[in-house]
Amino acid sequence: MNESKSLKSSPLYEQVADKVARLIQQGTLQTGDRIPSVRQLRSQLGVSVTTVLEAYRLLESEGLVEARPQSGYYVRSQQQDLPPEPSISAPDAIATPVGVGSLVSEILAAARNPEMFPLGASVNSPALLPTLKLNRVLAKIARHADVNSNVYDLPPGNEHVRRRIARRSLTWGGSLTAEEIVTTCGCMESLNLCLKAVAKPGDVIVVESPVFYGFLQILESLGMKALEIPTHPRDGVSLEALDAAIRTHPVKACLLTPTFSNPLGSCMPEENKQQLVEMLAQAQIPLIEDDVSGDLYFDANRPKPAKAFDREGMVLLCSSFSKVLAPGYRLGWTAAGRFQPQVERLKYANTLSNPVLLQLAIAEFLQSGSYDHHLRQLRQAYAIQVQRMSQAVSQFFPKGTKITRPQGGFLLWVELPETVDSLELYRQAMQQNISIVPGPIFSTTQKYQNCIRLNCGYPWSREVEQAVNVLGQLAGAIARTA
Ligand SMILES: Cc1ncc(COP(=O)(O)O)c(C=O)c1O
Repeated sequence: MNESKSLKSSPLYEQVADKVARLIQQGTLQTGDRIPSVRQLRSQLGVSVTTVLEAYRLLESEGLVEARPQSGYYVRSQQQDLPPEPSISAPDAIATPVGVGSLVSEILAAARNPEMFPLGASVNSPALLPTLKLNRVLAKIARHADVNSNVYDLPPGNEHVRRRIARRSLTWGGSLTAEEIVTTCGCMESLNLCLKAVAKPGDVIVVESPVFYGFLQILESLGMKALEIPTHPRDGVSLEALDAAIRTHPVKACLLTPTFSNPLGSCMPEENKQQLVEMLAQAQIPLIEDDVSGDLYFDANRPKPAKAFDREGMVLLCSSFSKVLAPGYRLGWTAAGRFQPQVERLKYANTLSNPVLLQLAIAEFLQSGSYDHHLRQLRQAYAIQVQRMSQAVSQFFPKGTKITRPQGGFLLWVELPETVDSLELYRQAMQQNISIVPGPIFSTTQKYQNCIRLNCGYPWSREVEQAVNVLGQLAGAIARTA
C-alpha cells in the first residue's frame, strides 16, 4: 500500500497529473474531450516534455484518459462498462427493536489490525490526511497557550472553532452563527445527543435502508426502534414511502444521511431535500441530519444539506472532521435548531466538554486556508479511488454483480448475484487478510445477504487491485458452488 507518499511533497509529474485530473473531475474537460497536447502543457506549465508524458501515463493508468494513436490523449468515459446499479431497496415496513450483535465489533477490530487489507470499515488512508501539518499547528498552540487552555470548555464548546465551523456554512449558502453550534466528541456524540433530545426509549426512528450500522448501534444503546424506509442508491430515501410511514407509524424522529449516505453513497436531489424538510416540519417530526461526508463531493459544487431548507429549527445538523481531516481529534458538532438547549444539557451529562487544545488546533487550521486546499486534493483522490474500485469490481466480480455510482464520499455498495452469501464471502476474505463489510449488518432484519460494502479510502495501487481480484474470485467460487 502506498502509504508513505504525502500529497504535498508529490513529484512534479504527479502534480501535473493532479491538475488535469481536477479539470476532469470538475467537468471542465468531459468524456471524449482531447486534453492539451504535450507541447501545449509543457509551455503552459513551464515543465519538461518528460514530466508531461509521465503525468499523462499516470492519468492513463488511473483510467482517466486514453491515448489514441497519432491523435493524442482523450478523456475516458468514467462509466465505461460498469455493471448496472442496484434497484431501490424494499425493507419490511415494520418498526424493529435493534440488536446489532458482535459482528460489528469484529469488523471494527479488523480496521485496527495492520495485517488486514482495509476494504471494510469506512476509514480513510492516513496518507491522505495532513496529520503532520495539523499536529505542528497543535504543538505551536500548546507552546503559546496560557493557563486558561487547561479548563473545562463547557457547552456549547470552544468559541473560536464554533465561529470557524459556522463560517463554513457559507460553502452551501447557509448562514449559521457560532451561537447555533455545539461542539461534540465526533459525529457519533452529536447523533447520540440529538436523538436523546428528541426521543426516548421505545420510540420509533426512521432510517434509510440499508442503514449505517453505527446508527443501529446508537439506536440499540438508547432502546429505540428503527423503521427502515426504501432508499434509492442514487437519490436516497423515497419520499413517497416516508410519507406513508409517518402516516401509519408513530414516528418520533428521522435519522438520515441525505448527502453521501453510508453505505449507498446516495445524495438526495436538492428539491427532495426541500420537500423532506417541509413534509417533516408539517408533521412536527425532527430530522437528525448526518452530514459527515457532505464536503466530499466529486462535482463542482458542494451539495446543500437539508438544513439549508430549515425554517422552523426542526433540523438537527450533525457533522465532524473525522472523514475529512482528523478522526483522531474527535471533533464533531451539531446545529440542533430549536433543540439546542436540550442538546447542551445532554452534553454536560455526557462528556461535559471537548479537549480545548484540539479544538483550537482545528480552528487555526480552518482559518489558515489549509483546509480548503487539503479538501480539494482529498475530493479528487476519492473520486479517482471510487472510480478505480468500480472498474476493478466490474472486471473481477461475477456476472450479475451490481454497483452504486456515488458522487461523493469513499464507499461503494456492491450487490452480488443472489446465490452469493456475503457472510461466507466475509469469512473467506478474512482468511486471506482482507476485510470487507457484509450486507446483513446494514439492516435490523439482516437483509442484504448478497451485498457488501467496500471502502475506497486508500490510494489505488497494485495491492488494492490484487485484493479486489481475490475477492472477485472468492465471490465467483461461492456463486458456482451455491
Ligand atoms: C455516516 C457516518 N456518521 C458518523 C460516523 C462517525 O463519525 P465520527 O467519527 O465523527 O464520530 C461515521 C463513521 O463511519 C459515518 O459513516
